[in-house]
Amino acid sequence: MTKKIAFFDSGIGGLTVLHTALQQFPEESYIYYADTLHVPYGTKSADEVRRYIFACVDAIVREGAEAIVIACNTATSLAVNDLRSIYNIPIIGMEPAVKPAVEMNRDNGKRVLVFATALTLSQTKYNELVSRVDDEHRVDSFALPELVEWCEQLEFDPVKIKAYFRSKLADLDLEQYGTVVMGCTHYPFYTSILRQVMPEHIQIVDGSTGTINHLKQRLGLGIRQPVESTGPEREWDVSFFSSAERMEDQDKMRIALQYLNENKL
Ligand code: DGL
Repeated sequence: MTKKIAFFDSGIGGLTVLHTALQQFPEESYIYYADTLHVPYGTKSADEVRRYIFACVDAIVREGAEAIVIACNTATSLAVNDLRSIYNIPIIGMEPAVKPAVEMNRDNGKRVLVFATALTLSQTKYNELVSRVDDEHRVDSFALPELVEWCEQLEFDPVKIKAYFRSKLADLDLEQYGTVVMGCTHYPFYTSILRQVMPEHIQIVDGSTGTINHLKQRLGLGIRQPVESTGPEREWDVSFFSSAERMEDQDKMRIALQYLNENKL
């Protein structure tokens, strides 16, 4: 039996995580919910954003979700523990992939660069994660708020984005770094553009695959044989919802998902 699995984000960023799920489990039923009334979360206060998250998750549960992926690093760091104590369904969170990134560079002495929202970076959950895994103090982090804004406007112009990355990275000696962590689910929309301005040896990672593996374990997905035709022409069962309940929100989510699929992101 297919399960109704919900993905939640402040906006369209969580589609990068949903897209990973769709590629692995194309036969499941999905709900995607974007808080279009309040995006971006990353530049607001923790108390304000926490209120928005509770209202959205309440709406998602009323839509009949049997599991929820909080496809937003910011929302996870603010509310995942409270949500788990309120709802009796699996709630999968995500955090910047700092631990695997530190491990990848354990022997080569290289540093790790984490991009995440200002709100994620200010939370105890993130700072405890870094103190736990970064025993050699090789992790640097900063926010890229313009990427969230542009992503929500479906602005993917490579010339503009490359110039932005170059100016943001201008003061760093990139040779020192081994891995970049995309610690906000909007950022992987720009992974292939970032790739073009990064030295070749730098790996770019995000939390999507780890999160979907976790979902798979929790729900026992993938027990059935994979369906033969899983190409892009296959119909996916995704229902789109947004807090602003605007038709154009749904159009935007469809266009963004198609962009991820066409660009193999
Ligand atoms: N996509 C979100 C995250 O993973 C939040 C972006 C925002 O709303 O600022 O952190």
